[in-house]
Amino acid sequence: MTVTIGLFVAIWNKISLTQMNQSKKRKRTLPFDKSKQIAFIDEFIIINQAGETMVFLSHCTHLGCKINQTNNSKLVCPCHGSEYDLDGQVIKGPAYKNLRAVNFEISENSSQIEIEN
Ligand code: FES
Repeated sequence: MTVTIGLFVAIWNKISLTQMNQSKKRKRTLPFDKSKQIAFIDEFIIINQAGETMVFLSHCTHLGCKINQTNNSKLVCPCHGSEYDLDGQVIKGPAYKNLRAVNFEISENSSQIEIEN
């Protein structure tokens, strides 16, 4: 009986944690301009290239500074100079992890983008 109750509690905790993690995700609706190759909006970087859109968190993977600059189609962190390509890949340190991509959905009329993070 004790084992059964313990198993039930463990499963219940797992379900509760999963639901909490899902509810922590939030959605943001922001203006979208497909003609702009690189847009820094709030905590996101929206990239349009070769007919595709990608969205990354703008937090540098080194120490978290907000990336808000470009140089020759590279994303540049203002704090210590890490650089990322437009696919979010690190091309110059000290950062060594790529930018984190986030899920998004573009509105039917392409004027807004709903970003989930
Ligand atoms: S926080 Fe971006 S390079 Fe250090």
